Amino acid sequence: MAMIAHKCPQYRVTVVDINPDRIDEWNSDNLPIYEPGLYEIIKTARGRNLFFNTDIDKGIRESEIIFVSVNTPTKTFGAGAGMAADLQYWEKTARKILQCSESSKIIVEKSTLPVKTALAMERILSTSDSRIQFEVLSNPEFLAEGTAIKDLENPDRVLIGSSQTKTGLKARDELVEIYENWIPMSKIITSNVWSSELSKLVANAFLAQRISSINSISDLCEKTDADVGEVARAIGMDSRIGSRFLNASVGFGGSCFKKDILNLVYLCRNYGIHEVADYWESVVRINEYQKKRFVLNMLKAMFNTLADKKICLMGFAFKADTGDTRETPALYIAKELLEENARLVISDPKALQNAERDLREVKGDIVYIEDPYEAVKGCHAIAILTEWSIYVDLDYRMIFDCMEKPAFIFDGRNIVDHQKLYEIGFNVYPIGKPALSRF
Ligand code: UGA
Repeated sequence: MAMIAHKCPQYRVTVVDINPDRIDEWNSDNLPIYEPGLYEIIKTARGRNLFFNTDIDKGIRESEIIFVSVNTPTKTFGAGAGMAADLQYWEKTARKILQCSESSKIIVEKSTLPVKTALAMERILSTSDSRIQFEVLSNPEFLAEGTAIKDLENPDRVLIGSSQTKTGLKARDELVEIYENWIPMSKIITSNVWSSELSKLVANAFLAQRISSINSISDLCEKTDADVGEVARAIGMDSRIGSRFLNASVGFGGSCFKKDILNLVYLCRNYGIHEVADYWESVVRINEYQKKRFVLNMLKAMFNTLADKKICLMGFAFKADTGDTRETPALYIAKELLEENARLVISDPKALQNAERDLREVKGDIVYIEDPYEAVKGCHAIAILTEWSIYVDLDYRMIFDCMEKPAFIFDGRNIVDHQKLYEIGFNVYPIGKPALSRF
């Protein structure tokens, strides 16, 4: 919404939320999320044509187009628990829109939703006054955290799904008109509503599948003399495969990949296509396996006991350039290491607050130190879990000197110079490459 307000001063954009603390933060200099470049954009538009407030009824009443961006977490109860999307916030919003509207509106699905949700929305919205018409469009968001501003400014594509009726196409054109302010028409694609809803789930499923594919190969590389980086490079140069998103890692995290795949799996099961469901579910299974494997590798390398050993986790965010820790592999790894009675020092430039919140209920010896040089003091091992660029060029000789010996480093992101670290004296365990170890 900030980007629309920034690019289109002729539109008035109002963001409403039920949480007053969040709205206060959006109105302050201390935004509730860390996203490079976002503050600058908000500053240009806030108070001019971008407003944040909690008056939801008024927001609905006065707007002609409503983007619904409520969360759709995985259901934790009842049928489909652990798999299906929990649509209660979505449905409550639909009812609220119906209750507050005094004129016809375009409703845009921005949240990621299972296929056919627009139909449910339309049904709820068409239950009363027939003079007020609602047109439901699907306009999924493809931005990635950490690069959101760049992705919004120059997206690979914008997708708009609409019903193919006269009024549906008219609503679609109104949304196209907004994006046309800064995005070339060739990148604005339109489809029917269901294709649009499904494309969002499928895009994330394909992206996650690439990571699970390369991560599965990383295991094989560790058992042979192959190097997953070299394999990724060799296959990525095939233009049909492409080189991006082939970085083997400790596993993917984030609020979307797992949730969206499980959603897809649930849809498939619902339609009775279990082979297809199993196929996609395996992407999540490999991801769980990769995280588990990482901890077992640590345990094995460190003489099968981690009890009382101090381990520094470098990075807790699910990826670099964000403070977000949702579904971060670091949380799983931290819990498993604590199960082994290890002592943890958690370091991260942006995610320490979230890390503390995530681990509040977890028992164990944990301290949180932002400065990596302070964090590693007296540690037996370092596990690099987020690919923050600051971790690449640390003075590892200095770090080695203040660690317990033998010193171990487990590079869950393959970002440091393994040979150099080995020469300093570390025992180095990358992902998908033979270990450089003295044992
Ligand atoms: C992802 C998609 O990339 C976006 O297109 C989509 O809009 C978004 O989900 C969403 O549905 O909201 P995001 O989760 O922000 O974006 O971040 P990604 O860059 O996709 O990374 C996801 C995870 O995969 C991270 O943990 C990252 O470290 C990991 N990853 C990524 C790898 O392990 N290897 C790679 O090569 C790339």
